[in-house]
Amino acid sequence: MRRIWQASMIGLARSSAMKSFMQNSRATSFLRNKYVAGETVTAGAERAVALLEKNGIRSSLFFMGEYVDDPALIAETVQQKHDAAEAIAQRQLDIHISVDPTQIGYVISPQQTQGHALKLAKEIKRLAEESQGIHCLMFDMEDASLNDPTIALHNTLQDQGLPVALTLQAYMRRTMEDMEKQVQRGSRVRLVKGAFAAGPKLAFQGTNEIKHNSRQLIELMFSKTAKSKGFYPIIATHDTNLHDFAILVARKNGWSKGEYEFEMLLGVREDIARNLALQGERVRLYVPFGRDWWPHAVRRIGENPRNAVLLTRSLFS
Ligand code: FDA
Repeated sequence: MRRIWQASMIGLARSSAMKSFMQNSRATSFLRNKYVAGETVTAGAERAVALLEKNGIRSSLFFMGEYVDDPALIAETVQQKHDAAEAIAQRQLDIHISVDPTQIGYVISPQQTQGHALKLAKEIKRLAEESQGIHCLMFDMEDASLNDPTIALHNTLQDQGLPVALTLQAYMRRTMEDMEKQVQRGSRVRLVKGAFAAGPKLAFQGTNEIKHNSRQLIELMFSKTAKSKGFYPIIATHDTNLHDFAILVARKNGWSKGEYEFEMLLGVREDIARNLALQGERVRLYVPFGRDWWPHAVRRIGENPRNAVLLTRSLFS
């Protein structure tokens, strides 16, 4: 039931007619305000400062947009990512910028994507030399067709000594193998359950199977081998059972607070993020900004059937 609801919302996220209607409707502004920091880089950076000052929570900035095929919009997106890196470096925060390959050119040309990502990662490296923190270009993971290209892009930049990180999804059957390789590379990996849909050959379908795989992946991410390789685990979920499990495995295998982190989404159960931060855990929120907010917001609605009420309110008010 949960996966059917999620698949329907994924369909809505990809509908350009729906996107245009929702993003131009006044009635939906509460949805935008719930999940998005604002339209500008400054709004994103200011939210990042406020989170750190109030709750000790770090941020990962994300200029929204996905599956972009308009060259002008790609250029604007790349510029916004550079501006975000500058803005948060000026404020002495972590230069943690999230990026989807399809928003920086992958739909048009993989070479172009690599060029943009390379420039961004080099810029982060340069800015990071002047400020303390955990700095990286974090590759988000999109649908199954993007798995190989995204991993290859991450590995190419990592091999050049650039500060990059990778997202892997527990719903994909291949992820255990991908994770083992990243552990050997001593990478930074963000584990998520997966906000896309794929058939049973490629992906686990049930919630319990995905949770089971998440636990097995966490065991690997916090293994003694991972620690000895300099691997950095990032557990990105609002699932408190998985938080507890990760902390348990971490302690059992000698990981201290600050050698890994938890990441959550702006506007989703921020109480959980605050509680973890109060316990001394390193916590980060994914802070989206920009005009193209509908696909991001409707995916969040899809993650919890109880959010149907939010969607109904925005459609019929
Ligand atoms: P899960 O769905 O198991 O729910 C756990 C608890 O949180 C429940 O109580 C639930 O009700 C509550 N909850 C979860 N989502 C909620 C919501 N939207 N509103 C209200 N309550 C909610 N995916 C992907 O495919 N590629 C990516 O690159 C990323 N990137 C990413 C970064 C970060 C920082 C996060 C936290 C997540 C992603 N995701 C992602 C999304 C991820 O795959 C997944 O869809 C969501 O995190 C929801 O799964 P959880 O494990 O968080 O909660």
